[in-house]
Amino acid sequence: MILVTGGAGFIGSHFVLDWFDKNLNPNFHNQQIIVYDALTYAGNLQNLNAVCKEPNFVFIHGSIADRDLLAKTLYKYRPKWVINFAAESHVDRSIAGAGDFINTNIVGTFTLLEAVRTYFNSMIPGEETQSFRFLHVSTDEVYGSLSPNDPPFAETHQYQPNSPYSASKAASDHLVRAWYHTYGIPCLTSNCSNNYGGLQFPEKLIPLIIHNALRLKDLPIYGDGQQIRDWLFVKDHCSALRLILEKGKVGEVYNIGGNSEKTNLQVVNTICEKLDQIKPRADGKSYKTQIKFVKDRPGHDRRYAINATKLQRELQWKPSETFESGIEKTILWYLDEQNKTWLENVISGDYQNWIKQQYKCK
Ligand code: NAD
Ligand code: TYD
Repeated sequence: MILVTGGAGFIGSHFVLDWFDKNLNPNFHNQQIIVYDALTYAGNLQNLNAVCKEPNFVFIHGSIADRDLLAKTLYKYRPKWVINFAAESHVDRSIAGAGDFINTNIVGTFTLLEAVRTYFNSMIPGEETQSFRFLHVSTDEVYGSLSPNDPPFAETHQYQPNSPYSASKAASDHLVRAWYHTYGIPCLTSNCSNNYGGLQFPEKLIPLIIHNALRLKDLPIYGDGQQIRDWLFVKDHCSALRLILEKGKVGEVYNIGGNSEKTNLQVVNTICEKLDQIKPRADGKSYKTQIKFVKDRPGHDRRYAINATKLQRELQWKPSETFESGIEKTILWYLDEQNKTWLENVISGDYQNWIKQQYKCK
């Protein structure tokens, strides 16, 4: 039995879909999975269409800031593991207004930890308490920004968050650490680099660029486009999380990264080149002609890079996709006719308002 908070978002839904994949998780028939999600603009039950009819799948619509509902859920289903993906996750939105980030990422994580603490303390010490795990899914952005020659972030790197988003995630990581040290809750934390893949809301760089390119819209690059991110294919993040749940050491932090540092301009150029091959523009021009340098993001972190050797050494994890293979899969996912309805649904409503506000365009 596993409780997945935020399981209807981008990474959470991949985690759930992979849970039901017999090649990745041969025991899934014997395990119940409870997805608990507030379904904000970023949460989408359609992501889980392929598994929502499975007899061992349960969905609960609720917030991690709702202590009563959390308590009812925990006592009713008695999960062995809790994995927390629930968060506000977009840096630009956190700059436009940080309130939801404080409420969900900080107060929500606190509320979830308190509900889990009461639940954990109600267990009879023994097998149940020994196997219980709370895995908090976090980000490399808590470590701040690297200079070009700095070594990649190790787990021991100082926390230096620079955006309201990363500050709120940093606060949540500290709460998790304290609930382990003070109350003995069997917590683990993972800090992962930038993810990409299908089902990602097209406000983040990669899906936004694919989406805009195909609609012949501008491809907005903030500042000089030389900021570096360490990209990881989402399924590789999920495989690392499964290993950490199964074999990770309680109280530890694990960094997860793709060893794939790219500047934003390199990422956008790669997408344009792949699209030029797979789906050339009718006028024969390259998608690169749509690139537009726009005003930089305030407080924009220059470089993130992850040192994932601890995870490789202790849990024998390594990513299965390179950036080149992962980006091709991602582009093909967004081009697939079957995924058109998904895209049409997520780009209606709130999405239009966000794009107008952020890019001052239609
Ligand atoms: P997302 O924005 O796509 O999904 C977040 C999910 O959380 C949505 O389903 C949303 O409905 C749900 N949610 C939001 N507020 C909630 C609340 N109060 N209660 C319950 N559910 C709530 O995010 P994502 O990209 O899938 O990221 C998942 C987690 O992984 C986040 O914690 C994020 O910080 C972390 N992370 C993301 C990345 C990345 O590149 N996307 C990288 C590293 C870590
Ligand atoms: P994003 O996908 O928002 O992830 P994060 O800010 O969490 O790293 O952005 C990735 C990089 O792309 C980041 O350096 C900001 C940049 N970016 C653009 O240049 N243009 C855009 O329109 C967006 C959304 C991001």
